[in-house]
Amino acid sequence: MHYLRGPTRPSLRAIARSAALSLVLAATGAGGAPPAAREGQVHPERWPAARSRGLVDPDTEQRITALLAVMSLEEKVGQLIQTDISAVEPEDLRKYPLGSVLAGGDSGPGGDERASPGKWLALAREFRAVSTESRAGHMPIPVLFGIDAVHGHNNVVGAVLFPHNIGLGAAHDPDLVRRIGVATAEQVAATGLDWTFAPTLTVPSDVRWGRSYEGYSEDPLLVRSYAAAIVEGLQGPAGLNGKLQAGRIAATAKHFIADGGTRDGIDQGDAPASEAELIRVHAPAYRAAIEAGVLTVMASFSSWQGQKMHGHRALLTDVLKGRMGFEGFVIGDWNGHAQVPGCAKRHCPNAFNAGVDMFMAATGWRGMYATTLRSVRSGEIPLARLDDAVRRILRVKFSLGLFEAARPFEGRFELLDSAADRALAREAVQKSLVLLKNDGTLPIRSGARVLIVGPAAHDLRVQTGGWTLTWQGTDTTLADVPQATSIEDGLKEAIFAGGGRVVDSAEDPSVTKPDVAVVVFGELPYAEGFGDLKLPLYNARLPLTELQQLRGLGIPTVAVFLSGRPLWVNPELNASNAFVAAWLPGSEGAGIADVLIGDAGGRPRVDFRGRLSFHWPRSAAASPYADAAAAPLFPVGYGLSYARAGTVPRLDEHLIAAPRRTARAAAPR
Ligand code: BGC
Ligand code: BGC
Repeated sequence: MHYLRGPTRPSLRAIARSAALSLVLAATGAGGAPPAAREGQVHPERWPAARSRGLVDPDTEQRITALLAVMSLEEKVGQLIQTDISAVEPEDLRKYPLGSVLAGGDSGPGGDERASPGKWLALAREFRAVSTESRAGHMPIPVLFGIDAVHGHNNVVGAVLFPHNIGLGAAHDPDLVRRIGVATAEQVAATGLDWTFAPTLTVPSDVRWGRSYEGYSEDPLLVRSYAAAIVEGLQGPAGLNGKLQAGRIAATAKHFIADGGTRDGIDQGDAPASEAELIRVHAPAYRAAIEAGVLTVMASFSSWQGQKMHGHRALLTDVLKGRMGFEGFVIGDWNGHAQVPGCAKRHCPNAFNAGVDMFMAATGWRGMYATTLRSVRSGEIPLARLDDAVRRILRVKFSLGLFEAARPFEGRFELLDSAADRALAREAVQKSLVLLKNDGTLPIRSGARVLIVGPAAHDLRVQTGGWTLTWQGTDTTLADVPQATSIEDGLKEAIFAGGGRVVDSAEDPSVTKPDVAVVVFGELPYAEGFGDLKLPLYNARLPLTELQQLRGLGIPTVAVFLSGRPLWVNPELNASNAFVAAWLPGSEGAGIADVLIGDAGGRPRVDFRGRLSFHWPRSAAASPYADAAAAPLFPVGYGLSYARAGTVPRLDEHLIAAPRRTARAAAPR
């Protein structure tokens, strides 16, 4: 097994040289792609042909045609614009007939990120009421309300939080992901919202990227196998009309395309991949999502070979809508259009003409409305293009059943933290855990005397990660998810139930002499570029000395590592008897105890099922990532279990480069 091979440690300079070489190769299309490929050139015919399923039906298209015939230019342009609830009041929709609003990561009703579910519903109803009221010269078209429900309805207090996608990837279980989609849709529908900016179908190729945890896997086939499942879970089967009436919502496949393929894992950076690599690595999941009927696709902030995706006509229009047959609409990302050359927050006909159908005009939306109207009047935006975008947006609204008054899931707030959802989230946690090492210390006998320590044992921030109540998730507490269990809570419950004892962590372990110690630690939460890491892949917060001290006392230690990505942890692996990668498990910390704590006889109650969906780096200088993936410490698919034992030899602890701070994890830019 090659992960047991001795460490190979190329120097940083050698690594950098081969990085430069592979970039040159990628950019010139050499070493794989046919030599014909000019830099940045797109050949739609080389891409997989696909077709949106269930989006177009003749009756609805006729209704849309009828609507388009009577809508004013202002009303059409309004449909193209979405803004954030922190920048707009429901009354504004009387003057500006916007097509959509969103609640961004830091926005809540009345500026309160911890507003009650009732407040969310009231706000959604206010926007809806203004958009649909009958008044002279106004065509009632319900506004579409979107939110980032990326691991459950994570912006709303009290909602069950599922593991972030990286953990779901480790579960290798598409049906689990489908059921989580159903549960999330019902949570969102209960609060009166219509649309989630999920799933993230990224294929992260360098875990230095701060959004790695939003991806299921570095393996394009695993991501593809999840795409249809999550879309069907969120939206219902392709062709289901009246989704909201069935407790389903619109999904968003994001971020198109190659958001996870940027150089050095830099957020919003440039993906140097060849066209062939885009097709092979980054496109398959989109194809699956389109065929599952995904209603929207979000353009990526990133660039491909130097050209911003928001302005990439060949990829958005010729490939996505043409060759891949996508018939829903393309939503821009948060002011993402402003990064296109010649554009600004308030002005970007280029992105629209390239194929973005709706601007996420988080700020400056009034200006965007005015300039877009001007571009339509001047002919800079062709009328056919305008009608095409509005048709796509209305298609989505009809498919959701937005024009129908009935919304039977609205107000059913008990769905936010139902026993069924909690059980599902707990199941997901169990299945997401990857056992990297175990010398027989696990499972822990339920009657044992256990010491529970480590900075993340009772810390919901580390457990739930970014995109939790706030964008960065840095101030989440147990009070935000009242039914949540911390990892410590879950362990205690299982230990007490089995007649064991939890040893006082304030006392000296050389005196209390526990049978075993569980040390829980991990990364502080982050979202997007705030989580970008530089080399080395090392986190200075890891409690190495604590592990080593326990080890020195002869106390067997179980390390539980919470993180949004694999990091170099060789010293911690050496210092622990068992090591569990638990990712960002969410609100149901008890799922960890289910697997770690056995029965009274020390037999497992639930076995480990997770297997890595990202390779684990052998060295802290694991760059360029592609080289490291070729000689990982643990490859994709690795994962021990009680049934499948394995040993890990002593690992090289040499850090290669001096440790730098863990990035901008908690400190805003
Ligand atoms: C992110 C998107 C997200 C949007 C709305 C952007 O910054 O890139 O993934 O859906 O914000 O919150
Ligand atoms: C918003 C996020 C968004 C980010 C983009 C934040 O203020 O709350 O939703 O993704 O800005 O910069």
